Amino acid sequence: MINYNKLISEKIEKATGINKDELSQYIEIPPQREMGDFAFPCFKLAKQLKKSPAIIANEIKEKISTDEYIERIEEKSGYLNFYINTNKMAEEVLKEIAVKKDEYGKSTVGNGKNIIVEYSSPNIAKPFHIGHLRTTLIGNALYKIYNFLGYNTIGINHLGDYGTQFGKMIEAYKLWENEYNLEDDPINKMMDMYVRINELCKQDEKVLDACRENFKLLENGDKYCTDLWERFKELSLKEFYKIYDLLDIKFDSLSGEAFYSDKMQEIVDILEKKGKLVESEGAKIVDLEDEGINTPCIIKKTDGTSIYATRDLAAILYRARTYDFDKCLYVVAYEQNLHFKQVFAVAKYIVDEKYYNGLTHVSYGMVALPTGKMSTRLGNVVKIEELLKETINKANEIITEKNQELEGKDDVAKKVGLAAIIFNTLSTTTNKDQIFDWSVALNFQGETGPYIQYTYVRTKSVQEKSGISPLIDEVDFSQLKEETAIKTIKTLYNFSDTLLNTAEKNEPSILARYLIELSQNYNNFYNENKLLVDDEKIKNARIALNNSVGSVLKTGANLLGIQMPNKM
Ligand code: ARG
Repeated sequence: MINYNKLISEKIEKATGINKDELSQYIEIPPQREMGDFAFPCFKLAKQLKKSPAIIANEIKEKISTDEYIERIEEKSGYLNFYINTNKMAEEVLKEIAVKKDEYGKSTVGNGKNIIVEYSSPNIAKPFHIGHLRTTLIGNALYKIYNFLGYNTIGINHLGDYGTQFGKMIEAYKLWENEYNLEDDPINKMMDMYVRINELCKQDEKVLDACRENFKLLENGDKYCTDLWERFKELSLKEFYKIYDLLDIKFDSLSGEAFYSDKMQEIVDILEKKGKLVESEGAKIVDLEDEGINTPCIIKKTDGTSIYATRDLAAILYRARTYDFDKCLYVVAYEQNLHFKQVFAVAKYIVDEKYYNGLTHVSYGMVALPTGKMSTRLGNVVKIEELLKETINKANEIITEKNQELEGKDDVAKKVGLAAIIFNTLSTTTNKDQIFDWSVALNFQGETGPYIQYTYVRTKSVQEKSGISPLIDEVDFSQLKEETAIKTIKTLYNFSDTLLNTAEKNEPSILARYLIELSQNYNNFYNENKLLVDDEKIKNARIALNNSVGSVLKTGANLLGIQMPNKM
């Protein structure tokens, strides 16, 4: 398919001798068509060429010419405005979509590159809260998008399955095994046990000692302790997988913190050998003052036990060796900004430049629920499973109201309810705080997941009613001349750039907003024009556009983790 940016930058390169890659970055898409479909701001070259933007624009204009893709070039206030041949664009874009189908937008930029996406990473024996939902959904979307762009992607769930708290859990189990039936509602039971044992530890030094002893036994592979720890883990994972399965989330590895417990000594040794480890109040730390970080990174605590950061460092070394990653993304809440700054700074001493340059913290903001009945009932640590189920129920009510007889209603409600949550979670810029509100998220006409699904279903039903699927080679693209049609085609053209941009910024909200824009443009076209007209030529062209929109909406939504219903 034609790449307009490339075409234009090559023309300007010929005229100015300036490298096309530089030029290509300057090309803009003006907000209104009167200012061209693409524009080149010549002031960007004023310094280099030592001329005024207007003179540069005119000189370039003299030297370049129009072609089958570009109809007209105009100079205006130091800008070169390019007007494309829209028939040609329609042909290029719709043909490409018809041929590539759900592979439209796919790329090879990532070929040969390995990228780790670490996401979800809940803690064993603790609730999976709404913050974990956000990392799960952002990570899942990034994983799918990078994959679509040709990267070899590795999804890791870095479980929080290690630490002194497990010594306490083991002690609690020893004391009160008979009081708690862990098979039923295990996470809450384990939480209760944990709170209770902590209370007891405060009152009784001996209990605390016993807990410490348990942890040591666990570290040394004692069978009883290890079996119990495995059981806690298994019970927790069973709960977590209720959520993952519902959302269709997959991981390539579940190696969490415990996996690195025997790999930390090497980190200590490397840092020691490089003279980076210093004693401070009995602990071993790496000073990061020179890196502009005021808080040192603690590698070993006063009591000799290792900590969270050391396990992350061991993970970096292990992942570099095992996956030879080009990038390693950590989708973790912004509360851990300092932690990752410290860990990445220390990683400089552990792995080669290639690896530490690839370490990226994708930091996301808090999630707030609207106050009121729901949040109190579900508690401040929201049970995600309940949130998902309740949203699906609400979606079911709305759908039933609209269409009593809908076939496969439960499946549709599930898709719609989950889309509401996924889209709501992903459409907020990652670093911003986010609010979840049912009435907003489930609005079929708002900027929501269900709205995108609704639009998709509309394209499906138009296609079905038309009774045709136009032979793309016979479509007369000059029939698509309405402003709304052209806007929709231009949006379709932008799909692959949108994906590249989403990956470059690790920001699924870019794709989320794109899908809204595509839906809105299509709906404007739909509302202004009858699609199923008698004139065969017009009908064919419009159906071709209709089908292309449906196809791209589906591909894009799937990349965010949203499933499309065929009816709703
Ligand atoms: N388990 C942690 C939590 O729930 C998140 C882990 C983040 N990943 C990491 N490599 N430190 O807060």
